[in-house]
Amino acid sequence: MATEDAVIATNDDAAQCKRYAVEKGYWNDPYISLMIPKGSARHAPEINRGYFARISSIRLLLEKFIKLTNKKCQVINLGAGYDTTFWRLKDAHLMPQKFVEIDFPVVTAKKCHHIKSKKPLLDKISNDDIMLSKYDLHSANYHIVGANLTELGDIEKKLQESGIDRSIPTVFIAECVLVYIDSNKSGRLIKWISDHFPTAFFINYEQVNMGDKFGQVMMDNLRSRDCYLTGVSACANLQSQMQRFTSNGWADADALEMNKVYNCLPTDELRRIEKIEFMDERELMVQLFSHYCLVWAYKDTLNIGLETIDLSL
Ligand SMILES: C[S@@+](CC[C@H](N)C(=O)[O-])C[C@H]1O[C@@H](n2cnc3c(N)ncnc32)[C@H](O)[C@@H]1O
Repeated sequence: MATEDAVIATNDDAAQCKRYAVEKGYWNDPYISLMIPKGSARHAPEINRGYFARISSIRLLLEKFIKLTNKKCQVINLGAGYDTTFWRLKDAHLMPQKFVEIDFPVVTAKKCHHIKSKKPLLDKISNDDIMLSKYDLHSANYHIVGANLTELGDIEKKLQESGIDRSIPTVFIAECVLVYIDSNKSGRLIKWISDHFPTAFFINYEQVNMGDKFGQVMMDNLRSRDCYLTGVSACANLQSQMQRFTSNGWADADALEMNKVYNCLPTDELRRIEKIEFMDERELMVQLFSHYCLVWAYKDTLNIGLETIDLSL
């Protein structure tokens, strides 16, 4: 399999894992099963809890941003894959002015196809003036565009076609994406965003502390599938994760390992999900969670209080 195909395949893996955890009852998502067929693999409890923590913490920061801006904002999901956040926000009456997703055209074409053929997905968009092509979808406030995140000229063009207004507060999400992009190139993307969006927030979830044996095994496993973590140098530790923002034009950044993030989540939710599956070796979860992190960064030219957004409840 060519390298790009292997990276694209990681979207199917993520969607399968999410579907599995949803079916176990970790969180509610009536849309993910419309994006990906049921897989045959079973996933260990620590994997499911990992996805729960990933989804819940990104959701927490995203919703704080949307509420702070009173929905007068834009969301741009980089490497969105089969992410279903658009439908969840719509159901929760938390739709921003624009919601744009970017991924490789192969992925966006499949997502557009799922939307076209599944009524519950299409129904949430169809009131708007919808334009569906092979790779892209444009409607009043939801857009899916096919582009390579390393081609900044294409990104600029696609965001223009989606009617993005750079003066409006905009949150960027990269959920397990930047690690697949050469660190110099992801650095350029991060800088391009800070150069072009005066009031912006960035939520990044991905690997960290990758210099140890566990990180090496993870990379070897992926390499055997032709999947290279070409962005791993930015994932050395929390410092390098924050620095990629602060050295690229962002005012400030914060980062937490997922073990810490997990403990920030609502205790009643943690109590509920910890009853779903018995876990006999909590150390496996601690080890896994110490290799993933949540990073957030902001620049706040409009002074709307972006520095107040964190994981506190
Ligand atoms: C692990 S998946 C995560 C998908 C989604 N963010 C999620 O968490 O469910 C990584 C995604 O990043 C996308 N991706 C990686 N590198 C990319 C690039 N250079 N341009 C566009 N998309 C990219 C892949 O196609 C894939 O959909």
